[in-house]
Parts: sequence; C-alpha cells; structure tokens
Amino acid sequence: QDPRIAGISSSIRVIPDFPKPGIMFQDITTLLLDPKAFKDTIDLFVERYKGKDISVVAGIEARGFIFGPPIALAIGAKFVPMRKPNKLPETQKFPYKLVSCKEGNVIRVYIASREVISEKYSLEYGTDIMEMHVGAVQPGERALVVDDLIATGGTLCAAIKLLERVGVHVVESACVIELKELKGRERLVDKSLFVLISST
Ligand code: PRP
Ligand code: MG
Repeated sequence: QDPRIAGISSSIRVIPDFPKPGIMFQDITTLLLDPKAFKDTIDLFVERYKGKDISVVAGIEARGFIFGPPIALAIGAKFVPMRKPNKLPETQKFPYKLVSCKEGNVIRVYIASREVISEKYSLEYGTDIMEMHVGAVQPGERALVVDDLIATGGTLCAAIKLLERVGVHVVESACVIELKELKGRERLVDKSLFVLISST
C-alpha cells in the first residue's frame, strides 16, 4: 500500500449516528483541513489517470465537486458537474431570449442546446435525482467519475448511466472511501472502481 494512504485515512473524521442512527458518517471536511492529506489524495488519483486519454472528469454533487476539479485540471480534462435536480438550466424552459433591434423590433435569439437528462436513484438514506447537460460531452469521449465515497453504489451507478446514455465511455469511477459492508462494488457489476481507503 502507498505510504500516503495512512495519513489520508487518519485525517478523515468518523461520526457515529449521522445523519441517522446507525450510520457511521465519514467526514472528509477534516481531510480538507490537512493540506498534505488533501494534496496526497489528489496526487494519488492524478498519478493513476494521467496519460490515460481521459477528456472528462464527471464530479458528483456535492462532495465530488471537491475532489473532481483538481484532478481534471492536473490531467488536462474538462470538468462536468453531475447535479442535484433542478439546478441546471434547460433548453425546454428557456428556448430563446428576446432581444431589441435598432429598428425597435423585438426578435427571438435561440440559445445553444442545454438539454438536461435525469436519472433517479436510491441512497443509503433516501432517494434522489441526478442531472447532467447532454451538450457537456460528446459521444465517444472517455470519462472518469469522481466522488468522495461509495456506500450502496446507487449514486455512482446513476452517474455512469447518465454518461453512457449520451455515448460516453466510463473508464473508471474513483472514490476516496469505500464502505465495504454496503457492497456498492457489487452493484457496479462490470464497471471498474478505484478507491484509496476501504472501510468496514
Ligand atoms: C453521499 C456521498 C456519495 C453518496 C454515496 O452523498 O457523498 O455521493 O452519498 O452513497 P451511495 O453509494 O449509497 O449512493 P450525499 O447524497 O449524501 O450528499 P452530498 O455529497 O451532497 O453531501
Ligand atoms: Mg455525495
């Protein structure tokens, strides 16, 4: 095991019974307070994915937005946010804007496609919907999905599905922490998963 993993692991605070009784919450905010642990985390991912021809890093709201962007910048990929529902502006709701011309006429200016696709999924505690902009990626692009943690695997599955629905090849999913007991890895079936820390 890489010697940096122990430091990363000890920087994560575990909070019992949050947000519900029985859940051991893995609090990565303490990892973020430790610049060495945070840098080591990003470096380990970058070392794995640099030169792998990945053009998209898809980060899952909210905690995937912390780890995804520095990885994307370091490997020269774009960052695509996988968002909670009703956050992304959609073409259907705002197909055009009204613009006044010199002559005093008002004309419609059509805006580039911002189609949004959604995927419903179940969580360790509740259900949710994930959304992405179709136009953010092109069919055939190679993507890495990033999140802080995999529990039941529902969240990563939804992200992979969204990307595959628009013809993107998901090379791998990467998380800082895996909660082994919840068997999220099994739910990913044949999809590749890389984690830094496996926790029981
Ligand atoms: C947590 C975590 C993962 C997800 C894992 O996010 O950050 O995204 O749960 O669970 P799963 O493997 O069972 O699907 P959460 O939706 O709680 O919210 P946050 O990231 O916005 O804090
Ligand atoms: Mg999350």
